[in-house]
Amino acid sequence: MDKDHRLTPFYTKLKEYAESGTIQHDVPGHKLGQVPNDLKDYAGITMFKLDANAPRGLDNLNRPTGVIKEAAELMADAFLAEKAYFLTGGTTMGILAMIMSTCRAKEKIILPRNVHKSAINALILSGAVPVFVKPYIDEELGIANHMNYDEVEEAILENPDAKAVFVINPTYFGVTSNLKKIVELAHEKEMMVLVDEAHGSHLPFSDMLPLSSMECGADMSSCSLHKTVGSLTQSSILITQGPRVDHIRLRSTINMIQSTSPSSLLLSSLDVARKNIYFEGPIQIPKLIEMARKTRAEINQIPGLMACDDQYFLDRHADDYDETKIIIKVSGMGLSGFDVYKELFDEHKIQLELAETQLILAVLSIGTQQKDLDALVVALKALSDKYMPMHLPALQPKIKYSYPEALTRPREAYHAPKKYVPMNQAVDEIAAESIMIYPPGIPIVIPGEIISQEILDDLDFYQRSGSVILSDTEGGYIKIIDKEYWEKWSELYENE
Ligand SMILES: Cc1ncc(COP(=O)(O)O)c(C=O)c1O
Repeated sequence: MDKDHRLTPFYTKLKEYAESGTIQHDVPGHKLGQVPNDLKDYAGITMFKLDANAPRGLDNLNRPTGVIKEAAELMADAFLAEKAYFLTGGTTMGILAMIMSTCRAKEKIILPRNVHKSAINALILSGAVPVFVKPYIDEELGIANHMNYDEVEEAILENPDAKAVFVINPTYFGVTSNLKKIVELAHEKEMMVLVDEAHGSHLPFSDMLPLSSMECGADMSSCSLHKTVGSLTQSSILITQGPRVDHIRLRSTINMIQSTSPSSLLLSSLDVARKNIYFEGPIQIPKLIEMARKTRAEINQIPGLMACDDQYFLDRHADDYDETKIIIKVSGMGLSGFDVYKELFDEHKIQLELAETQLILAVLSIGTQQKDLDALVVALKALSDKYMPMHLPALQPKIKYSYPEALTRPREAYHAPKKYVPMNQAVDEIAAESIMIYPPGIPIVIPGEIISQEILDDLDFYQRSGSVILSDTEGGYIKIIDKEYWEKWSELYENE
C-alpha cells in the first residue's frame, strides 16, 4: 500500500508532548525551557519545548518500535530504499557505520583517494585496507573530482578479495560516476557498494538530477539531509536495500557510535524535511535548476569568470552533473578562489560553500531564492569591474595532486609508536594523523602515508591563502610514526 507522506509521526508526537504540560523529572536539565538563558531569549521557548530526551511515547532511536520506526519507514519509502536509519551525527556517522559494519581488520575496500575524512577514520576504526582509486583530475579547475568507471573496474578486477566499493554520489562539485555500472560489476564480484551521498539527498526527488544511490542499486548510502534538503545541521540518514546488508551488524555498529541522547529537534527535522521534499522537490527542483542555468549564463557574461555547465563536466568523463551546484572559475580575474570567497563575505555579505585555488562553489537548494542569486551576480560583476582593469596575471593551479605513497594501513599508523615534529621537519616521515583543509575536509595526507616536500609546500600554500588547516596536533607540529620502535611494535600488533 502507498505510504501517506503527509504524515510526520515523530514530529507530531513530539509536538503533542511539548504541549501536554507533562511535569518533567527527567533530562534534559533545561526542563523544556524552564532554565533561563540567552539562547531561549533569542530563539524562543518553543525550541526548548521540542528538545525532549526519551519520554514515553517518543520511541527509542537505538531500537525503534513506535513513532521513530514509522517515520523511518516513510523516509525509506521517499528515498526508494527498503530501510532507513535516522542519524544525529551527520553523514560522518553514516560513513563510519557503513564501513565498520562491512569491513573487518585487514579486509580490503576500494575507494577514491579524495574521500571525506570520515571514511579515513572508518579505516582506522575498522582496520580495513584501502585500495585507493585516483580520482579524475580536472586540470582546468585544479580539482580532484569523480572516479572514472575504467579505474574502478581495474581496481575491482585487480582486487577480487575486496569486500566493498565506496563511491561519492555526487562529489562536492556535483559530479557523478557511472554508479549503476559500478554496482553491476561489484555485485557480480560479490562486493558491497557503499555510497557517500552527503551532497545528494535531493537526487531522488527530480528526474532532472543524476540518479540516486538506491536507483543505481547500491546496498547502502548515507545522505546529509541537512546539506541540501532542509533538515537541521547534523541530521542525516543511512538507507539500505537488498539482501547483502547485514542489519544486525549494521544496527549494532550504529548503536555503538550514536548518542544515547539523540536530539529530538534533529529527528523531528528529518521527519518534516522528508515530507516537504517529497511533495515540493518534484515541483521546486526544476525551477531551481532553471534559476541556476540563468545565473550561470549571466556569470558567463562577466569578464574573467566562467561558470561550468553540465556539458563542461560531461566532456570530462562525468556520468552526470547535479546542476544545483554552481562552480565558478574566478582565476581569470587574477584572483584565487580564496580571495573571492573572502571578499564576497567581507564586502558583499555573501557566504559561499567552498573556495579552491581557481574556483568558488555555491550550493543551492529549494530554499534558494532568485534574489540571492541576483545578489551573487551583482557582487561578482563588481569584483570583475574592480580587478579586470588591473590586468593581474591569471593564476595557475598550484596543487599538483600526486597522492602520497602509503607504507601501512591507516589503523596501524594511527596506533603505532609516535612522536611529534614541527611540520616543516616532517619530510619523508610517515604520518600518524590526517591533515586536511576545511572545507572540504578531504585529507591531503592520511595515517600511513609518506609526507613529501610537495605536500608540505601545498599545506603552506593553503595556509597562506587563508584556509583552515585541520589536524589533531596543534602549534605547527605533526604526529609521525617513531620508526625506531615501530618494527618491534608491529610484530605484536600487525594483525589488529
Ligand atoms: C563528501 C562528504 N562526505 C561526507 C561528509 C560528512 O557529512 P556530515 O557533515 O553530514 O557529517 C561531508 C561533509 O562536508 C562531505 O563533504
